[in-house]
Parts: sequence; C-alpha cells; structure tokens
Amino acid sequence: MRMIVDHISYTYKENKKPTIQDVSFEIKEKEILTIIGQTGSGKSTLIQQMNGLLRPDTGTIYYHGKDVFDKDYHLRDLRSKVGLVFQYPEYQLFESDVFSDVCFGPKNQGMSKKQAELKAFAALRMVGVPEELFYVSPFELSGGQKRRVAIAGVLAMEPEILILDEPAAGLDPQGRKELLSMLVKLKEEKNMSIVLVSHSMDDVAEYAERVMVLRDGKIAYLDTPKNVFSHKEELEAMGLSVPQITHLMYSVRAAGGMVDVNCHTIAEAKEAILKLYGRG
Ligand SMILES: Nc1ncnc2c1ncn2[C@@H]1O[C@H](COP(=O)(O)OP(=O)(O)O)[C@@H](O)[C@H]1O
Ligand SMILES: [Mg+2]
Repeated sequence: MRMIVDHISYTYKENKKPTIQDVSFEIKEKEILTIIGQTGSGKSTLIQQMNGLLRPDTGTIYYHGKDVFDKDYHLRDLRSKVGLVFQYPEYQLFESDVFSDVCFGPKNQGMSKKQAELKAFAALRMVGVPEELFYVSPFELSGGQKRRVAIAGVLAMEPEILILDEPAAGLDPQGRKELLSMLVKLKEEKNMSIVLVSHSMDDVAEYAERVMVLRDGKIAYLDTPKNVFSHKEELEAMGLSVPQITHLMYSVRAAGGMVDVNCHTIAEAKEAILKLYGRG
C-alpha cells in the first residue's frame, strides 16, 4: 500500500459546508484509480490533499506508513513522490524552450544540472515528445504536445504516484487515446500508481482498475468499473452516467434482444452480442 487516506474532512474557510467529508481509501502499487463525480463534488480538492497542498481539518494521510502531516515530516519529500498534474497544465509552461521547462522540477528538487537534464530527457522520451521539439518554445506546440510536455515536467521528478486532473480534457480523440495509453504504459513499466480525475465514463471503463465516485465530498462507491457501472440508475440520479456502450446494450435489451446489459467496454459488448447469436 503506497498511500492511505484516513478519514479526512475539509472545509474551505469561506464555506460553511464541508467539501470533503470523512473520506478514507488507499492507493495500491501499479493501479489506475479514477475519480468521477459531478462538478463541485470535491475531486480537485481531494487530490490537492493527496500531495499535501491542502491540509485536512481532521484525519490524515499516510505515505509508506508515515503520517505526512506530522510536524517532523517534510512535505517536500511527499511532493516529489506524489506528482500532481493540474487541469490544463499547459498554462503552467513558462520557460523559453521545452527542455528547460521539463528540467525545472528536478532542478528545484535540488538535482545537479546534469542529473536534471538526464531526468528531463527520459521524461520527454517517455511521453513521446520527439527530440526535434526539445528546443522550441512550448508556445509553438500543439495542444496535445503542450499537455505532454507539462506531464513530462512532473514525470521528470520520478513520482511513484501520478495524479492528473482531467488530463484528456480538450484533446482530440487521437490525442486522448495516446495520452491514456501512455498512462497505462507508465503504470506497467514504471509500476506507477495513477490517479485520474475523469469525466469520460468510456475511458474509466476501458482503463481503470478501480473507480471512486464522489458525491458531496463523500465516497458513494469505490470498486471495479464493472461493479460501479452496474449502478446505472443511482449514477444517473447523481448526474453521472454509464459508458456509451452500456446505453447501447440497454437499448438493444429494450428492443427485445436478450443481451447482458452489464457491458461497459466494446470488447464486453462484442462478446455479449456474439453470444446472442450462439457464437460466444
Ligand atoms: N479555493 C476555494 N475556496 C473556496 N471554496 C472552494 C475552493 N475550491 C473549491 N471550492 C468549493 O469546494 C467544492 C468542491 O470543489 P472542487 O474540489 O473544485 O470540486 P470538483 O473538482 O469535483 O469540481 C465546491 O463547492 C467549490 O465551490
Ligand atoms: Mg475539479
């Protein structure tokens, strides 16, 4: 267990109502955990607590068994191991060229110039930014490339847990697919734990090992996508949805096709449809 979030609650000073209410969960090695929930349900607040940017009012967070809010714990250590990629991270690119931008994080961690450059090089390769783009201004890149560079800036610090707030938002379908495949690769090859705030139920079904549903700052569900998406009505009542393909299977069923409606990926739906024809 890499991280244990232990009964945390948090209320912004300006608000009366708590934004996070008694939330507990854990992050395992090598998993993709997605967080879904309506706007205002507390997703962005929760992830900022996970790298110590916001301190919970009650409860705490353990990282490798150590209480990160203990007075002897250096939050700087946590932040280098738990990398947070904000929504639209490309707005945080500011150096004159791509490579310098990615070097910024590791240098800030106290690495030598040479070391930082090695990490930056590896990170840019990992996210698939070609070398001919290393020395151009980040502002000359496409949206998808900027997003990759911004993610590389966090990866260069070699986090064990990578947290991303809606990383695929605003990307075209191709960019989106490439980004998500890259996250799967990081999980597989680097044993990374990936925490992904997402609005796309299709992506959640396809890529996540577990999914957390937040409702008014509380965990409504925390389970496999299969189990969570079997609560179609409850999710819809929360203003959420199920994957597109699940809607399709419900329509087929309503029209008299005796398919299993509990399908959430194209692969599952294919099997269910073939079964209907006795070919499954
Ligand atoms: N900096 C802030 N100051 C005061 N209230 C905030 C702040 N950030 C978020 N909130 C409030 O906390 C609640 C949860 O917000 P947020 O964590 O951004 O949710 P989500 O990311 O799920 O949309 C909302 O009601 C929002 O208005
Ligand atoms: Mg948010």
